Amino acid sequence: MAATAPIYKQGWSLDDVHWSLFDPEKVDPDLLAAVKAAALVEANAPDYVTYLKRVFRDGGEDILVAIERWGEEESQHGRALGRWAEMADPNFRLQDAFARFRKGYTPAHFKGDAAGSVRGSRRGEMIARCVVESGTSSYYSAMRDATEEPVLQEIAGRIAADEYRHYKLFYDTLNMQTEPDMSAWKKFWIAVGRIRESDDDELAYAYYCANVPSEEEALKPYNRKVYSRLSARTGIAIYRRRHIQKLVQMVVKVIGANPHGWLARGVGALVWRRLQKQASAAA
Ligand SMILES: [Fe+2]
Ligand SMILES: [Fe+2]
Repeated sequence: MAATAPIYKQGWSLDDVHWSLFDPEKVDPDLLAAVKAAALVEANAPDYVTYLKRVFRDGGEDILVAIERWGEEESQHGRALGRWAEMADPNFRLQDAFARFRKGYTPAHFKGDAAGSVRGSRRGEMIARCVVESGTSSYYSAMRDATEEPVLQEIAGRIAADEYRHYKLFYDTLNMQTEPDMSAWKKFWIAVGRIRESDDDELAYAYYCANVPSEEEALKPYNRKVYSRLSARTGIAIYRRRHIQKLVQMVVKVIGANPHGWLARGVGALVWRRLQKQASAAA
């Protein structure tokens, strides 16, 4: 591996990944479980594309093209992570696990065809998207830094760079909206609301479908509490202080506060302390 971290540009494909460097000895089972779950969530992007295009249906051609491209990149994240997981565990089948996930999980706002955003406005929608991209960008950075397996390092590095660009796309889109700006409080609550949804079924159920084989379903039925704890455990274990600080800075910037000010420092310290508490409780 190169001594300095490579810079990954937009528009890569699965053929650009150095799959031949795969080293099964360096696969960590907890990370493998997390990669499988992440593959399912990423692969679910087409539904988000349909929904976002509805929210921006009269928003101009540029944003619709950007949403389409964004969705293709997210789907590719799913395929890259899935292919890696299939190499690391020959019993894993991305398509099968994904089919089960799709059958059991559809967020309410993907079902109807209402034109508006569930966040109340396009600005609200962009704040929620920025929160998600902040989360994914820091998560894959943490994964890249936590694994010793060279191919996962590369994939996580490429994905983290994409997620950061997605954040910038939605941040710029947020600031381009002609809708009136919201109060800092309103923005804050939309961000908090989206963060709280991370406790929702999506991640826990993806973890379940990805890691409990269908033949064991009857023996190990889905339990949100159990599987959200299991799915959170890996996340907590791989984060370092710097990943959390970056995450907090990105979210703080979206609500219009200074990413290098007291708020970001205070919240960063608070979140880090809470994570460490959870980590020692789970140990
Ligand atoms: Fe992604
Ligand atoms: Fe993304």
